[in-house]
Amino acid sequence: MSLLEVENLRTHFISRDIDNQIRVAEALNDVSFTLEAGKVLGFVGETGAGKSLTAQSICGLLRPPAKVICGRVTFDGHDLTAMPADDLNALRGAEIAMVVQNPRTSLDPLTRIVDQLVRIHQAHAGGPLAASRTRAMEMMEAVGIPDPKNRANAWPHELSGGMAQRVLIAMALMNNPKLLIADEPTTGLDVTVQAQILDLLKHLTERFGMAMIIITHDLGIVAHYSDEIAVMFAGTIVEAGPVSEVFEAPGHPYTRSLIAATPERLKVGGGAKLGGQPPDLYNLPSGCALRTRCVFASDVCATPPPRTRVGPDHDVNCHFAGDLPS
Ligand SMILES: Nc1ncnc2c1ncn2[C@@H]1O[C@H](COP(=O)(O)OP(=O)(O)O)[C@@H](O)[C@H]1O
Ligand SMILES: [Mg+2]
Repeated sequence: MSLLEVENLRTHFISRDIDNQIRVAEALNDVSFTLEAGKVLGFVGETGAGKSLTAQSICGLLRPPAKVICGRVTFDGHDLTAMPADDLNALRGAEIAMVVQNPRTSLDPLTRIVDQLVRIHQAHAGGPLAASRTRAMEMMEAVGIPDPKNRANAWPHELSGGMAQRVLIAMALMNNPKLLIADEPTTGLDVTVQAQILDLLKHLTERFGMAMIIITHDLGIVAHYSDEIAVMFAGTIVEAGPVSEVFEAPGHPYTRSLIAATPERLKVGGGAKLGGQPPDLYNLPSGCALRTRCVFASDVCATPPPRTRVGPDHDVNCHFAGDLPS
């Protein structure tokens, strides 16, 4: 059994327009993937593709008008979609932890760093306060905060962006999670700090045996830090597989366009940058959502593309999977 199994997840935004007609944005459309314990999965795709929504749907963090319409999420043998809200809350922050972008806004500005770490440990693990404080010091050390004894009493506004992100990662680690979801964890940080934070996350997954989902719009980050990749477009995973497989033989026109848009060292043949705008989720084209922008599209693309296996654990959702010119 895999640590995380997501099957046919659909998330919609349901609202009413000014004429009181129901409007539905099909934001996630049949998202399925699995993640093994200890592995790193990179989710990549343009802004609005549904990466954050996938994470929020898994963790039960959706706010109206977003709603999971169907699908199943199984984590460590538990069906999260059927779990009572209280149990899911207990799981989140303990077994599954999240790190998001803009770390400063995720910290409580009125609470000293150490007290925020202690608070999250107390909320889930309980036990003596002194034990939580010891754990807080250990985790500050683990995330490379220099001089943790003195930094522990700092206020969030006294930290640099990189330090704030390290604190957020320490918070995520406090309860020894099996899965860490890092949603654009380095967006907005200086380039040198970005690399340090990503190296740290990778190191921590190995040290603590955690699995990680890393969400990014940067294919280079996925190439460097992940074992597996899932490429998202318009709420669908269009290609998934081991990173080495997918980079060597990208099978979906969208993946090829992403690779074509990245720096030279990662380029492979057959890709051209896509033109056009992301599709309107309230009015998706039938069949393949990419077809209005895809140079390979033909009439058959108006029907849903099948998921096709093109290599070991390597799947592509395209009518022409495996048949595209290389
Ligand atoms: N309240 C809402 N109503 C309708 N659509 C929304 C709402 N909030 C977000 N969306 C849409 O959901 C899609 C997925 O968003 P998101 O998961 O945040 O994308 P990503 O993280 O890949 O950039 C986006 O196209 C966004 O416009
Ligand atoms: Mg996002």
